[in-house]
This record gives sequence, C-alpha cells and structure tokens, in this order.
Amino acid sequence: MTGETIDVRINQMRYEAATIVSLELVPVDGGDLPAFTAGAHIDLILTDKIRRSYSLLNDQGERDRYVVGIHRDPDSRGGSRIVHERLRVGQVIKISPPVNDFPLDESARHIVLLAGGIGVTPILCMLRRLQAEGKSWELHYGARNSTAAAFLSEIKEIAKDDPSRIHMFFDDENPGKYIDIPAIVAAQPDDAHFYCCGPVPMLDAYEKATKDLPRERVHMEYFSAKEEVAREGGFDLVLQKSGKHITVPPGKTILDVLIENKVNVSFSCSEGICGTCETAVIEGVPDHRDQFLTDEEKASNKLIMVCCSGAKSAKLVLDL
Ligand code: FES
Repeated sequence: MTGETIDVRINQMRYEAATIVSLELVPVDGGDLPAFTAGAHIDLILTDKIRRSYSLLNDQGERDRYVVGIHRDPDSRGGSRIVHERLRVGQVIKISPPVNDFPLDESARHIVLLAGGIGVTPILCMLRRLQAEGKSWELHYGARNSTAAAFLSEIKEIAKDDPSRIHMFFDDENPGKYIDIPAIVAAQPDDAHFYCCGPVPMLDAYEKATKDLPRERVHMEYFSAKEEVAREGGFDLVLQKSGKHITVPPGKTILDVLIENKVNVSFSCSEGICGTCETAVIEGVPDHRDQFLTDEEKASNKLIMVCCSGAKSAKLVLDL
C-alpha cells in the first residue's frame, strides 16, 4: 500500500439505517482537507493490509470534513466489520486524498440518478451538487425496505421544493419485482445523462437498459465485486524485477503473498474495482476476476489486477 495519506479524527459516527453508519472525518491539525467533487471517494486505511474505498456523501463545497456511509456487509472480509466494530468517535485514522472515478457532467440538461442500497452515497453527493446549481434532476432509489434506506430524510429535505423528483422502490412493497430501469430510461429526453450506483444485479440491469445509448451519457460505479476473488492458488509467481520466485498457496491471493514477501505494490479496494494494483504480465495467463480491465485488455493477457485475479497457467511472470 503506497501513496499520500491524511490523518483525520472521527468526529461523529451516526446510525443511518439498519446496517449503515456514517463517519464524519475532520482534519487532526485543523485547516482544510483537499477539495473534492461529487462522485469522489476516499480510502480508509484500516490495517496494514486492509484499505477500503468509500464515496464522499457530504457537500463538495465543504473543506472542513469528509462524510462517508458504510454498510455492514455480512460477507465482510474485514473492511466494513472493522468500521462497525472497532472504530469509535475520537479515534485518529489515516485516509487517502479523494479521487473521482465517477465524475458528474454538470453540462447535462437533465440528470437521472439511480441508487440501490449503499450505492446512494455518491448519488447523494451528486444530488446536493445538482440542487445547489439549480440543475434538473430526478432520483430513483431502491432499498430492501424503508428502515434500510439510508439518508432518506436528508434527501427529502434537499428536494422539499419538488418531492415528485424522488421515486422510492422498496423490495418489501413489491415482492418478486425489481426497480423498472428500462421504463425509467425509456421515459427520459434524448439528451438525459444517467448515473447509477448499486448492487451487481441492479448494475447489470442498468447496463442492459442503456446499452444502445451513447456512452458519454451512461455513468456507473460498482461498490462491490462482481466476481469472487481468486484464492484457489496452486501456481508460481516469478517477479522479473526483484528476481523473486514465490508459490501462491490455496486460500491466498497474489496480493496476499506479495505483501507477505514485502514486495512494494500499491492497492486500494482489494476487490478488482479501482485499478490501483494493475500490474504488467510478462508471461502466463491470468484468471481475471476484476471489473476494471476491458474485455480486450483481459484477452491480451498483458495486465492483471493482483488483488483479485489468479492464474490459469502454472506460472505467471510479473513486472515487479
Ligand atoms: S486494489 Fe483495486 S483493483 Fe486491485
């Protein structure tokens, strides 16, 4: 894990919904935090090995705090479990500066925001910005039920001059049904832009519903991995630059063994989403499990995301 870090104090932790807490982070030494724009995320550096990305949900004009919302994932491999169980108000933690891989095109005439579950966090930041700038927007927000829908009262407050822009979809009120993304997309003007953040099935439906639209109008962000991280092991790594030979055993990722062997490698999400751990492959065939590389890049076998991908060949030679 490399890169610049910032020390922040947890100023507030708040229960936002059944499994969601928000953290308000303020600079330890006063002063301003680095500026950010709607859609940006920061990494919380939770241990030597665990670093997780979370979207900023507060107003992008604020420089005195960052606010993130964190869902306790029942399958957590450490990230959200640590936040919910170990972090407390007053603690100082390290974070990364903000990065925006999901930027808002403010020139669009109308913006349709789609959020599912904890995917509401970047969408909430966008909604604040659009409202502040007097832009035309609408929100479609799906959650299991009303108690699982975080930040709902805040959203209603932001949209209080025209609540008809908010469309809620609760699973428990619509058994066996899903938010009707094709109908939402079909009802929009030809120049509308779409932003979606939610669970994998929602994003799959969104990708299908928007496949014929110009790509510059379709924006999305995964917050969780689509595929299982490769831990099958049973192959060898040759690190060309450092001359190391390492076996990846079953139960471990390539990243796990690189860290254990003190190989300097950058990583962030550990789930194949952010692209930080991208590494050049000199020889061998990766078993790609990420959502970052394009299909062409994957087919070329020239790159690998070492946090989540494995090997189809008995040996991988990496440019490390
Ligand atoms: S650390 Fe994010 S893709 Fe590997």
